[in-house]
Amino acid sequence: MPLPYIITSSILSADFACLSDQIAQAERAGIDWIHIDVMDGQFVPNLTMGPFIVETCRRISKLPLDVHLMVETPERLYADFARAGASLLYTHIETCPHIYRSIQHIHEVGCKAGVVLNPGTPAAAVEAVLPIVDVVLAMTVNPGFSGQEFIPGVISKITQIRHMLDEVNPKAMIAVDGGINNETLPPTLQAGAQIFIAATAIYKHPKGIAAGVHELRSLLPV
Ligand code: DX5
Ligand code: ZN
Repeated sequence: MPLPYIITSSILSADFACLSDQIAQAERAGIDWIHIDVMDGQFVPNLTMGPFIVETCRRISKLPLDVHLMVETPERLYADFARAGASLLYTHIETCPHIYRSIQHIHEVGCKAGVVLNPGTPAAAVEAVLPIVDVVLAMTVNPGFSGQEFIPGVISKITQIRHMLDEVNPKAMIAVDGGINNETLPPTLQAGAQIFIAATAIYKHPKGIAAGVHELRSLLPV
């Protein structure tokens, strides 16, 4: 069976003065998941959200919550985010010297597990855990901020990861995050991605949130 296509809206670009309304608009327009970017000011320069926001999103919506941990020593936080209502935890290979244990740990706390690679990290770095992950997230910007420009050099790595997954774990999905919009989504789709994470293209779309979601959806096969 072919893998489904997922649009997940990163609330990093939402207006937090009316977060609930912004998420409701995105949900009505047909997003599949809600993406929450956790940054510690150490692994990445920015400082953002913790389990409290995940718990808030859990109350606002029934959609799956995919939580992107851009923090040093992320293992200490898996259980907290699981308790807050996360459905999927993404952990960066660059922060996890014991990546096999990290992925097992995420499963133990009851979440799906995603391993993330920065744009400069080669596909081979995650090869050992490909049989046990649910998602591989290829960053298409340097993590830390929304609104950055897509790095096209990552596309060949997506193709490479898709081939590697097809050998050992064909049900695992590939996610892309950073600079995803109506121009950059098609080449990542072509390369083998199924999960499209977008902040600016949804929450800052000039015609509004619904238009942003519909634009991305219209690029995906039905
Ligand atoms: C970047 C975050 C992204 C970010 C995407 O570090 O992981 O999820 O919110 O923002 P856009 O879609 O604006 O590039
Ligand atoms: Zn993210």
